[in-house]
Amino acid sequence: MNELVSTIAYVLDVMSEGTNLYHSWRVSIFASQFAKAIAPDERKTIFYASLLHDIGYLALPEHITHYLFTLEDPSQNPIVLSHPIIGAELTSQIPNLSMIAKLILNHHEWYNGKGYPLGKQRNEIPLGSQVILLADQIDMLLRNESVRGIKAVEKEISAWSNERASADLIDAAIKVLRDEGLFDEVSDKEKIPVVFNRVRAETGQVDIPSSADAVGIACEVFSQLIDTKHPSMIGHSKRVSVYAMLIALAMNLSHDEITRAKWAALLHDVGKLGIARSLINKPGKLTPQEFDTVKIHAIYTRELLETITDFREISIIASSDHERYDGKGYPMGLKGDKIPIATRIISVADSFDAMTSKRTYRKAMSKEAACEEIERCAGSQFDPRIVKEAIPVLRNLPISLM
Ligand SMILES: [Fe+2]
Ligand SMILES: [Fe+2]
Ligand SMILES: [Fe+2]
Repeated sequence: MNELVSTIAYVLDVMSEGTNLYHSWRVSIFASQFAKAIAPDERKTIFYASLLHDIGYLALPEHITHYLFTLEDPSQNPIVLSHPIIGAELTSQIPNLSMIAKLILNHHEWYNGKGYPLGKQRNEIPLGSQVILLADQIDMLLRNESVRGIKAVEKEISAWSNERASADLIDAAIKVLRDEGLFDEVSDKEKIPVVFNRVRAETGQVDIPSSADAVGIACEVFSQLIDTKHPSMIGHSKRVSVYAMLIALAMNLSHDEITRAKWAALLHDVGKLGIARSLINKPGKLTPQEFDTVKIHAIYTRELLETITDFREISIIASSDHERYDGKGYPMGLKGDKIPIATRIISVADSFDAMTSKRTYRKAMSKEAACEEIERCAGSQFDPRIVKEAIPVLRNLPISLM
């Protein structure tokens, strides 16, 4: 679970831009050091909440650091205004992370009651959220060209005393920035990864027992992250997972095999978090070059999932759904039974959902037409044995599932 949180933070800051903007990392570094000084018992929770604090921003077209001025006046943008709520909703589903959800919900509340989304004030705001707010605002300050050097930063944050944060918290933060030389370290982009790893090790891990339950829920949350970033794909991963499960049941696979198919289906497009929305939503056909870029998502899916121990087993299943039965697929050109059986099922389910969903450049196909197309590709794109079992299931799907 600790790896999961770190991976999501990586997706937020790196994959969406192709270059690391270090927002989540730098906020976590500051927050962890401030927490060490004023809320040592909550340090771990605060650190992990900081890593995910802006997860709700996935709904914005660009990385959150591009909204410097909107942040001062969030009423300009409904997503900015609601990102703490979206973030709390996403994280609250993971067992034992509900405390993190609460800190995320309140991370833009100001001590004087002028923050958002709920306009809480003073002690109504959890201390951890106040710490994250201050860390976040300092990170934004450092991105502002006109504020240079520790003295200038001190002057700015002193002015927030009892406005954005309590005077006590601000005093403690200034002390930390001065004493530990932290300010110099995090002002140098090259040094941020080193400092981040040191602070993470020092902070320690949150105790989250990893159970089958938690892994399943984490898969669901990942599929919702894709929906949040790419609204044109809403519900796609979930539907593919349901179709894959129905096909696996029809084939009398074991419980473990069915579970793997379901989970891997939820994750099969995770790599699309790293693909620009303009490409995923492009009205009209992609150019060959654009198509090559979109294809990279299969590799991203594999790389992302491999960093999480609990997902390692399904990473290959989830990232191979563009392989073809005849070996002419991507990314590896696997052929026939070399492709895991759960993947061969997901490929059919994925194509069926893609065809029966509306696209910007075409209408949705009927179930019957999609089934005919799948039958036509049996033996080339798809495993013919799976097509034989899948067609009766897909042809009779109730509309409410689609
Ligand atoms: Fe935020
Ligand atoms: Fe932030
Ligand atoms: Fe897909």
